[in-house]
Amino acid sequence: MLLEEPLSPKGMTVVGLVQSSVGRMAELIDNVLDFAHGRLGGGLTLERNAHVSLGKVLEQVVDELRAAWPERRIETQLAVTKTVNCDRARMAQLLSNLVANALTHGASEEPILAGASTLDGSFELSVPNQGEPIPRSTLERLFQPFFRVAARPSQQGLGLGLYIARGIARAHGGSLNVCSDQEATHFTFLMPLA
Ligand SMILES: Nc1ncnc2c1ncn2[C@@H]1O[C@H](COP(=O)(O)OP(=O)(O)O)[C@@H](O)[C@H]1O
Ligand SMILES: [Mg+2]
Repeated sequence: MLLEEPLSPKGMTVVGLVQSSVGRMAELIDNVLDFAHGRLGGGLTLERNAHVSLGKVLEQVVDELRAAWPERRIETQLAVTKTVNCDRARMAQLLSNLVANALTHGASEEPILAGASTLDGSFELSVPNQGEPIPRSTLERLFQPFFRVAARPSQQGLGLGLYIARGIARAHGGSLNVCSDQEATHFTFLMPLA
C-alpha cells in the first residue's frame, strides 16, 4: 500500500528493505513449517493442477525475486510447451528456493539463469550460477536439513531450503541434483511427464 503513495527516495529505500525482509521471513517460516510437517509424519501432499499455466507461475516467482533484488540480473528461459502434471505451488517453492540460493550463495556480479523446459518425456528446471565451486565432498550433504557450507553473517538461512526442495522433487517422482566446478554451480530438477 505504501508503494502506491508518493514517497521520498529514502521512503522508497526503506519500503524496499521491508519488502525483502518480509520475503526472507516468509521463506524461513514456510521452510520451518514444511520441515516440522515432514518430520511429524505428515509427509508432503501434492495438489496437482495441470490446467494452470506453469510458465506463468514460474515467471511470477522470478518477478518477485527480481523485485526483492533489484540490483541483480535474473534471466529466464522458459519453454514449457507440454502439460506438466505437478503441484504449481510446490513447483514455485522449488524454483524460488533455487533462485534465492543462487542470489545468496552465488557470485553477486554475475547474472543468474532460471530455465524450465519440457523435452523428451520429462520436465526440467535448471538454475546455474557462477561463484566459488562447492567442494565435491560436501555436495550431497547440501540436501541434509540444517546443513550449510559456510555461514556468513549476511546469509541468514537455516539450511532447510534444499532439503525441502528435494522432498518436493521426490514427491513428484523426480530428482534434484547438483554439480559444481570452476565454471558454475548448477542445480537441476527433473521429473517424468507421464
Ligand atoms: N547456488 C548455490 N551456490 C553455492 N552454494 C549453494 C547454492 N545453493 C546452496 N548452496 C549451499 O548449500 C547450503 C544449503 O542450502 P539451503 O538448504 O538452501 O540452505 P540456506 O540457503 O538456508 O543456507 C547453503 O548454505 C550453501 O552453503
Ligand atoms: Mg536456501
